[in-house]
Amino acid sequence: MKAFVSFLLSVVVWYGFLGNVNSMNVSIYYEALCYDSIQFIVRQLYPHYEQIADHIHLEFVPYGKAMFTQNDDGTFNFTCQHGAAECQANKYQSCVLAQNNGQRKDVQFVNCIMRQRNRHMFTTVETCARRNNLDVPSIRKCSEGLEGDRLLAANGDKTDNIFGQISFVPTIVFDGKYNDETQNQSLIDFVAVVCSKIEGDKPIICRNRPLPEKMVW
Ligand SMILES: *[C@@H]1O[C@H](CO)[C@@H](O)[C@H](O)[C@H]1NC(C)=O
Ligand SMILES: *[C@@H]1O[C@H](CO)[C@@H](O)[C@H](O)[C@H]1NC(C)=O
Ligand SMILES: *[C@@H]1O[C@H](CO)[C@@H](O)[C@H](O)[C@H]1NC(C)=O
Repeated sequence: MKAFVSFLLSVVVWYGFLGNVNSMNVSIYYEALCYDSIQFIVRQLYPHYEQIADHIHLEFVPYGKAMFTQNDDGTFNFTCQHGAAECQANKYQSCVLAQNNGQRKDVQFVNCIMRQRNRHMFTTVETCARRNNLDVPSIRKCSEGLEGDRLLAANGDKTDNIFGQISFVPTIVFDGKYNDETQNQSLIDFVAVVCSKIEGDKPIICRNRPLPEKMVW
């Protein structure tokens, strides 16, 4: 009986422990050629990513303020806020993200590519892909074919489903629910927002890290 009780207790403790590493979904709606998107990824997300990695479940949605139509033959036409180059760059990133390389590699790749000048060129994509040991031929195949178009259109549907028309890029959404204040705070101190949502033990990076005050953004 005693053994059974202690077994039960350890199950409860384990369950509590596993449940305690609570992870939140964070969706990043962004655009490849958008200055604010670059700033967010390079300055907010990437620098402290490792310290909060266990607490966030990321979803990158490159699309932003683009629009698309589907032709009768199944092909798509896209128009992007920053022109055709941006559509191409978003398509490359959609193809890489669809490979399911794991969150860490996705963060590394997106950070790498967003720092490059020629994000819309395959050679640039290739550089960042090789740096992360990604499958370059499959990225090429995806982005040259209908698959890349479909993936980009799917990101468009995701974006439009949540916002109708997205009003600011990037937009950061926690657990599928947009919040104006959280959005504003995320652009100033994303880590602080994540920290505020971690229940229980918080990583060291969260110490003395209050949410940003009402800001002028
Ligand atoms: C899509 O693009 C093609 C080629 O540029 C053009 O001929 C066609 O009219 C466009 N379709 C739509 C629905 O805009
Ligand atoms: C987080 O995302 C996963 C997978 O996309 C989903 O199953 C889950 O319901 C989401 N959780 C919340 C709280 O949004
Ligand atoms: C967020 O920022 C926008 C743009 O500056 C502003 O219009 C809005 O009032 C802010 N919302 C909150 C809740 O701070």
